[in-house]
Amino acid sequence: MDYFVRDSIFLLVLGVVLDFSVGAMPVSFSEEFEVTSREDHVRIMADNYSVQLTLDRNGDARFASKHEYMFGLVSAKIKLVAGDSAGTVTTFYLSSDRDIVRDEVDFEFLGNRSGQPYTVQTNVYAHGKGDREQRVNLWFDPSLDFHTYSIFWNHNRIIFSVDKMPIRVFKNNRVKLGVPFPNNQGMRIYSTLWNGDQWATRGGLEKIDWSKAPFHAYYKDFTIESCRVPINASCPSNPSNWWEGTIYRQLSPFQEKLYRWVRVNYMIYDYCTDRFRFPVPPPECTAGV
Ligand SMILES: *[C@@H]1O[C@H](CO)[C@@H](O)[C@H](O)[C@H]1NC(C)=O
Ligand SMILES: *[C@@H]1O[C@H](CO)[C@@H](O)[C@H](O)[C@H]1NC(C)=O
Ligand SMILES: *[C@@H]1O[C@H](CO)[C@@H](O)[C@H](O)[C@H]1NC(C)=O
Repeated sequence: MDYFVRDSIFLLVLGVVLDFSVGAMPVSFSEEFEVTSREDHVRIMADNYSVQLTLDRNGDARFASKHEYMFGLVSAKIKLVAGDSAGTVTTFYLSSDRDIVRDEVDFEFLGNRSGQPYTVQTNVYAHGKGDREQRVNLWFDPSLDFHTYSIFWNHNRIIFSVDKMPIRVFKNNRVKLGVPFPNNQGMRIYSTLWNGDQWATRGGLEKIDWSKAPFHAYYKDFTIESCRVPINASCPSNPSNWWEGTIYRQLSPFQEKLYRWVRVNYMIYDYCTDRFRFPVPPPECTAGV
């Protein structure tokens, strides 16, 4: 059996077994979010659950949740920029938006020239400290269909997943190693489509081809299972929130297997092994998964 077929069956079987969420209903875009760029760059579709973002010479696209959240699971279905997307950056992230002690959990989708792989960069800022980039190339063309991108966050860890496959785990090593972890402030949910051609594609060598503009990304079916703060201040520390359950304090053997599969086959950059930037690896890097 060729590797692609074998891996596809493997993923299909595991996809059924692997269900993080208790199954939240999608939220209405217009109720939950506000457009923070030019209105005409974020088009809300008639169903109120899906949006089209546009990047062109007149500007980029940005929206943000109206509320702040702490812990839980936030997901969106996203279809990325098709064709020649080099230099474009599409994002889906949580941010405390307080620069003094910034917490941030980032998905950044880095476009590429047609036919070259899309790269997903993840990063975690905790109490002002970032510089924790990892990159994986996607194992499918993310511009053909919607795929689900999720951020899971509890007191124990942060898990980034793509179609329920964990692609990154950031553990809470606050007590053990003194590494800051986002645990004391709410974050808003943000998405953007913008010009990152100074750095994004092949380190900034590949620029946006404006003759291909406008560029579009599509989002739909946001789900939010989380504590809204500060209105519900007691919620984040409630141990009976489903995401604090014991099964969410480690990856299951199946998830471990998937996680390894992604990292072995698709990871192209890890700050933990970048001896040029970090001659001494940051403490969380040697703490294991
Ligand atoms: C979408 O939201 C707008 C504004 O809130 C509302 O007028 C419209 O009826 C909604 N459409 C649907 C299909 O729910
Ligand atoms: C774009 O494609 C090139 C060539 O295949 C690859 O080296 C690179 O990792 C891809 N992604 C980005 C963001 O440059
Ligand atoms: C506050 O959070 C609790 C869970 O800890 C939940 O049961 C309750 O409905 C929430 N209340 C409000 C007003 O959101």
